[in-house]
Formats: sequence, C-alpha cells, structure tokens
Amino acid sequence: MTQLGTLEDLPQDYREAMTAAGVAPLWPMMRNVLPHGQPKPITQPGYWAYDALRPLLLRAGELTPVEKAERRVLVLSDPGRGAGAMQATASLYLGMQLLLPGETAPAHKHTPSAVRIVVEGAGGYTVVDGEKLPMEEGDLVMTPGGDWHDHGHDGEAPVVWLDVLDLPLFYYLEGSYAIEGPLQAARNRPDAAQVEYQSAGLVPSRSRQQARRYPMVRFPWQRTEAALRALAEYGGDALAEVDYVNPETGEDVLPTMGFTAMILAAGQGESPPQRSSSAAFHVIKGRGRSTIDGKVIDWGPKDTFTAAPFATIDHHADDESFLVRAHDRPLQMKLGYYEERIR
Ligand SMILES: [Fe+2]
Repeated sequence: MTQLGTLEDLPQDYREAMTAAGVAPLWPMMRNVLPHGQPKPITQPGYWAYDALRPLLLRAGELTPVEKAERRVLVLSDPGRGAGAMQATASLYLGMQLLLPGETAPAHKHTPSAVRIVVEGAGGYTVVDGEKLPMEEGDLVMTPGGDWHDHGHDGEAPVVWLDVLDLPLFYYLEGSYAIEGPLQAARNRPDAAQVEYQSAGLVPSRSRQQARRYPMVRFPWQRTEAALRALAEYGGDALAEVDYVNPETGEDVLPTMGFTAMILAAGQGESPPQRSSSAAFHVIKGRGRSTIDGKVIDWGPKDTFTAAPFATIDHHADDESFLVRAHDRPLQMKLGYYEERIR
C-alpha cells in the first residue's frame, strides 16, 4: 500500500493559504475516510451490568421528578466515544429508562424510531397512536418514527426498560426533532399483537386503504420464548434465532433497525459471522460470557453489551440464556453494503 503524502510534507505558506481559502487536502486524510479492507470503527465493545445501572436509575427517581425529565433515562455511552456520548454504536442509541408507579411520560412524536425492551417491573404501558400496549418483562414495544407515544404506570413497583433508537443517524442527518401533544385517550381493546397476529401465516384480511405501515408494535416475550424453544428443540445444532418482522410483509420491523432473539442452551457456544452491522445485545435471562474483539464480557440477567461493525464475536452460555440483539442491518441493506464474512 503506497504511503500517501502528509500535511507536514507541504510548505507552511501553502497550508495557511488553503486554510484561508476554506479548503483542505484530501490525501493526508484519505486512509482515514476510506481505510482498506474494512472500516475502522470508533465504537468499542461496551458492557453495562444491570446491577450497576439499577441503583443509579432508582436514585434518579428520587433526584429528578419525571416532570423535570420528561423521559428519565440514563444513556449508555460508547466507550470509544467517551462519557456523555449520546450513542452506543455509530447507529444505535441505548438508554435505560425508569418510570415509577403513577407517573406518566408526556405524549410526543419524533423523527427517530424507538424500540423498548422491558427489563423489569409490571404495570407499565405505552400508548402508541391510541393503542395501549402493556409492557411485560422481555416484551419488545415499538414506537416507530412519527407515531404518537406516551408512557404510564398502573403498577406497584418501578418499571425499567431499555430504549433502542436510531437517534444517532437522525442527529447526524440534522433530522432529529420532536413534537409534543396531550396524553392520548387509549382505545378500549387489547393491542394488535394479542388479537390480530395469533398465528404465523394468518393475518386479518384488509383492503389496501386499511394497510398500516407498522401493523404490529408489541411483541410479547412469552410468544418469543415459546418460538425459540420450539426452534431449538427441532433445529438440531443450528442456532435458534428469530427475526422480529412485520407480520404483513415479512420485512424488518423498522426501516433502519432490526431485532433478533436467540436461545443458547447451557454450555452452548455461538460464533456468528463478522457482520458489517453494529449490534447491541440485551440479556433477557441467563448467564454466560461473550468475547468481542478480544474483550471478555461476563454477563448475567438484564445486562447489555455492544459490538462494533465487523466485530469478532464468540458467545458462550453457562446457563440457558436468551439474548435480544438490536442491529442496523436494515439500514445497511438499503444503502447496499450489508455484508457477512464467514470466519
Ligand atoms: Fe419518544
């Protein structure tokens, strides 16, 4: 590989003239913006133990009333970008959110999409475009970009969930903003996930005018776990992993972000291909360890960890474990460069 010229190779008067003219030479930066072979991510593997986050969240509950926070969230900052970074990977924002009994988080809608993975508690709910969605442990509850949403809590104990957003992308595009509104009156019916999509392959007949872009916004964990157990039982040695998809189209649930859930039996290992997508893993249940780009992460229930694009990842479960993986493959597929490299 040819060594390209550096800034220091150039005479001082020329460098100053370039700065005055508002230009800069590409060649000293060429290998940074177009490295050979694969990207050089800033993202580093991150790990957040729930045991460490939980007391901080509960303290936030004492220190900051929800009215002063709107969303009482601790943001999980990518170690590669440092403290305060509003992102966990280049494309994924992660935040741990606390709602206390009786509290509400006001209604708003925004350009980024959000997906919540319920970590702890019962009685919490999210209203998405008038649909009241219960939030039970392990559930995936989506608020797609542009959909009104607010949160409430009818239960007795704190409710915590992990927010996963494509916020970094919208922020980068200078396209991130929110609009506020009044709390929504919820329709008096169970959410679509409980009614309309009981059986795979069967969907309500609709006229084209009734087609909805996001027909299913809640994926109850009970069903996900049952699907994974069935797959694992009959799937031989292959990893039992399911994609969360739009039940009407079979496509990823959101334009930018995708989600999977996997089951690992006690003692089972898994070494996925190197993927061009970045990832965030959340442990629903179980215990084990993952080695990500050489960093060993010992994880337990409700912990969260991340991997950069093209990371080498090896999982090992000590106990039967369930992981949810958030990733940005849908975005990369649209941009035409998603890639998997067999190791
Ligand atoms: Fe929101």
